Amino acid sequence: MTAELIGLLTAVLGLVAAIITLWAVLGQKKRDVALITPPEDQETRALIERTIWERKPPQRPAIYESSRPPIIVVANMKGGVGKTTITSNLGAHFSSDPQNKRVLLIDFDYQGSLSQTVLGQAGITDVSMSAHHLLLGKKATEDALNFAPPMRFRERDRGQVRLFRATYPFATVENELFVQWLTNPDQEVRYNLLRYLDSADFKSAYDIVLVDCPPRITTATINALSAASHLLVPTQPDGLSIPGAEYFSRQLMRMREEAFPNLKLLGVIPSITLVATGLRPVEEAELRELEIKLREIWPAAARSNGEIVMRTAFVPRTHAIRDAAGKGIAYFRDAKAKQVFVRAGAEVTQRL
Ligand SMILES: Nc1ncnc2c1ncn2[C@@H]1O[C@H](COP(=O)(O)OP(=O)(O)OP(=O)(O)O)[C@@H](O)[C@H]1O
Ligand SMILES: [Mg+2]
Repeated sequence: MTAELIGLLTAVLGLVAAIITLWAVLGQKKRDVALITPPEDQETRALIERTIWERKPPQRPAIYESSRPPIIVVANMKGGVGKTTITSNLGAHFSSDPQNKRVLLIDFDYQGSLSQTVLGQAGITDVSMSAHHLLLGKKATEDALNFAPPMRFRERDRGQVRLFRATYPFATVENELFVQWLTNPDQEVRYNLLRYLDSADFKSAYDIVLVDCPPRITTATINALSAASHLLVPTQPDGLSIPGAEYFSRQLMRMREEAFPNLKLLGVIPSITLVATGLRPVEEAELRELEIKLREIWPAAARSNGEIVMRTAFVPRTHAIRDAAGKGIAYFRDAKAKQVFVRAGAEVTQRL
């Protein structure tokens, strides 16, 4: 009798444990799905994807239509996907032999990672900020340009780099401008950077511009998008980063028509991939799905570039790139890293 009772009790306990485990697993699954899947119905989606920046400008400045050398904005709302690493290494590639271009690097991220990296490579310890002048729009173009004197990373290169630095107070400048714009719709702030980049002083000082953005749509990001000719989107080819790239593209499409209709999608560059020699099948599969979605979201990009995802220009994860972070630019410190960014740079050049 006792043995039967123990058997029964064990069975009941086993059943309860199984139910609890099943409940926990289902609950967990539900949470995962809720995190990464956008809401199904269009109405809710339209509401939560709406962004204040889609407000129609009273008038786009006439200079928006004029021609300029390439201005590439490197952006994605997903953080830590290699935006700054790619910006600094492409800057190194374009400014050094044999490209030897005059490169203008703009750090529009208040975290200042690009500034730290570039100044570290150049051996400069100045931490004052200058990129905020390009946002505020108060300085004369010549004076603003003087805040970023030309420098060379290596003696032998004939190209040069100018860096507009950012530090944390940059965020305060952005917020003030944003509030000003919100409270006074006639006071447009989105084209302040464009006015500098389109000026004769600036145009005679650069062949290409690279703008590094924070992982958010800020006043600075909007200025970068409104001045840029091309958008480069780094993404890691994984299940958490891909929805981020997709969401970011949807957000941009909401603003693009009114605020920056000429912006072209240069491509999506797979970043921090796990194998040096190529993309793994699972990464290829993630990127194929993103390609399909982006073709729907941004049809013009699909027409002009063939593949939106720059599959052959992937940037693998390497020790050299990681170890250079915040101190310098891997391009100048490691032959394999250089190869990676020569390949990426060639693909970018071909698409411009
Ligand atoms: N290819 C790579 N190999 C190894 N480490 C990398 C690589 N790319 C980026 N990293 C490292 O990953 C981290 C994030 O990179 P990075 O700062 O370039 O990303 P980000 O998108 O600019 O980030 P944020 O959104 O914060 O601006 C850094 O520590 C960087 O050194
Ligand atoms: Mg960054």
